[in-house]
Amino acid sequence: MEKKKYYIENYGCQMNISDSEIVCSILDNEGFIQTDLIQNANIILINTCSIREKSEKKILLRINQIKYLKNYKKNLIIGILGCMAEIFKKKFFKINKIVNLILGPDSYRELPFLIKKILNQNGKYINTYFSNNETYSDIIPKRKKEKITAFVTIMRGCDNMCTFCVVPFTRGREKSRDPISILKECEFLFQKGFKEIILLGQNVDSYFWYGGGLKKNFNKFSLKNNTIINFPKLLELVAKTVPFMRIRFWTSNPNQITLNVLNVMKKYKNICKHIHLPVQSGSNKILSLMNRKYSREEYILLINQIYKILPNCSISCDIITGFCNESEKDHNETLNLMNYVKYNFSYMFIYSPRKLTYAFKKFNDNVSLTIKKRRLTEIINLQRKHSYYRLKKSIGKIQEILIEGISKKSINYFYGRNSGNDIVIFNKKNYKIGNLIKVKINNCTSATLIGEIF
Ligand code: 5AD
Ligand code: SF4
Repeated sequence: MEKKKYYIENYGCQMNISDSEIVCSILDNEGFIQTDLIQNANIILINTCSIREKSEKKILLRINQIKYLKNYKKNLIIGILGCMAEIFKKKFFKINKIVNLILGPDSYRELPFLIKKILNQNGKYINTYFSNNETYSDIIPKRKKEKITAFVTIMRGCDNMCTFCVVPFTRGREKSRDPISILKECEFLFQKGFKEIILLGQNVDSYFWYGGGLKKNFNKFSLKNNTIINFPKLLELVAKTVPFMRIRFWTSNPNQITLNVLNVMKKYKNICKHIHLPVQSGSNKILSLMNRKYSREEYILLINQIYKILPNCSISCDIITGFCNESEKDHNETLNLMNYVKYNFSYMFIYSPRKLTYAFKKFNDNVSLTIKKRRLTEIINLQRKHSYYRLKKSIGKIQEILIEGISKKSINYFYGRNSGNDIVIFNKKNYKIGNLIKVKINNCTSATLIGEIF
């Protein structure tokens, strides 16, 4: 039989990029061939994101846009993967003329089997069940060859139940991956020439290995050989296993990050000094409504501790503006907190009510769009000032930069990142992509550092 070609399109966060790499690996192993041209594909897979309404709308539009391909290609399979699977489930029977397959984040191993079934019998399949132990730990994701940085997923799902967030409903409960498989993958990546690893989890500080399974099922009396591994232990193991690679991790949680994490970061030179620590809001009232489980004061204490242990650490965050009942006072408290921390960079969003969440069911989305937009603009403008303030502090310093590629602005320049995750542009000299080099920072824009090889 002629080998079938698949095309995969990705939306959303790094976790989805990593998942798409897993999907490609599963399909390649079963003899399918990846194509970058959608019109050549026998199977089109859309890996979806439902974190905000905007992302969902974009994907629905895209599906509408590609449905015409069904008229031209006999037996074309369109599959929906990822976070929107749960939401699509309900619409499935309405849209099943377009979509043949809906698979949630824990069901990707079934893909080859279901695709073959659809090709032979033309059925339609859906599986959005959550597994208690699926972490795809034995599958080496298919990464692009020229990449310098690799994502390594260490845990899946989230138990935190922030009231605005749909992730616990689309990705299920937290499951940590076997540390041995993580270390093996890191070693493999080093052998393959990768230079940097980003350990990924919705909430890395929740990483907890006691032999597998859901965290809530952990029973200390059934522990064998005291094998608990938490995030700081894992981070240390990774740093020791691949001492010549840079290590990053993403995302930390203000309620769960520990001093041990900071101390491990300090101890190992190859762990980058950057923490993504979403605050979401600077108001205690809103933090409580969001069920974030920390107060503004506790967050500030944590920031102080980070700067004390890691004086040059860069800190970034996520902020949501216009959450239910957010007053002007609450908004000002967010601006005020930003002024205290002076984040290196932030991702800033307007609150978007998501079905299934507590906030959607119980609270009133009562901040008008006009106010949300105005508050977002104020937050973005302030962040711009802080990013510039932080970048300027690097001027005159000599920093270690990992060369990631050729600058988009000029082929005579490289771009790379410093330990704090800032982008740096510099002249090429005789170096190659992937080299770790010293760069003297001479200048900056509001988003980028400019330097020369030292
Ligand atoms: N509306 C707006 N932003 C959201 N995020 C998560 N859920 C929502 C929502 N309903 C943001 C949070 C989170 C980031 C990944 O996305 O800031 O940290
Ligand atoms: Fe969503 Fe909160 Fe979990 Fe992050 S920690 S994925 S915001 S529920």
